[in-house]
Amino acid sequence: MVETERAGEELAAELHPGDVVALVGELGAGKTSFVRGLARGLGTGDVVSSPTFVLVNQYRGRLAIHHLDVYRPASLSEVLDLGFDELIASGGITLIEWADRIAPLVPRDAIWVRITGLGNEPREIRIEAGREGGEVGREGGESDFPGDVD
Ligand SMILES: Nc1ncnc2c1ncn2[C@@H]1O[C@H](COP(=O)(O)OP(=O)(O)OP(=O)(O)O)[C@@H](O)[C@H]1O
Ligand SMILES: [Mg+2]
Repeated sequence: MVETERAGEELAAELHPGDVVALVGELGAGKTSFVRGLARGLGTGDVVSSPTFVLVNQYRGRLAIHHLDVYRPASLSEVLDLGFDELIASGGITLIEWADRIAPLVPRDAIWVRITGLGNEPREIRIEAGREGGEVGREGGESDFPGDVD
C-alpha cells in the first residue's frame, strides 16, 4: 500500500457521521489513493476508482461513503444538481476530489486534505479542519489528526 493510502486509512479512524473530506492536489498527486485507503479504513470491500466520468461513486462501509470528483463539472449548479446538499446531509462520509474548485459549496467544518508531490516523489499530506483559507485553517495551523504525514 502506498503511503498516501495509509494516511487515508488513518484518517478514517477519526471520522464521524456527516463528515466531509475535501481533497486538493494536482493531477496525479494521490487524491484517489488517499480515498482508497480511507474507504478501506471505513470497512468497505468495494473497489474504489476515480469517479471522474460519473461524478459520484458510492461505497458501503461502517458508514455510507460518497466519493465525488469535481474536476470536470463546469459550474457549481452542475454539482448542486447531483444532489450535493442531500449527500452532505445524509449522515454518511463525503469525499470530494478537487474540492478547491467548488470551495463555496464545501461546508465550513470540512476536513481539508492537501497533497503535494507527483510521480515517484514523496508526498506531503497536510490535513486540517476548517474552510480553506478560513479562520480555523489559518489560525489553527497544525492538524488535530494523528493521520498527518509531513
Ligand atoms: N506516496 C506516494 N508515493 C508514490 N506514488 C504515489 C504516492 N501516492 C500516490 N501515488 C501514485 O500516484 C499516482 C496517482 O495517484 P491518484 O490517481 O491517487 O492521484 P489523483 O490525485 O487522484 O489524480 P487525478 O487528479 O487524476 O484524480 C498513482 O499511480 C498512485 O499509486
Ligand atoms: Mg483521482
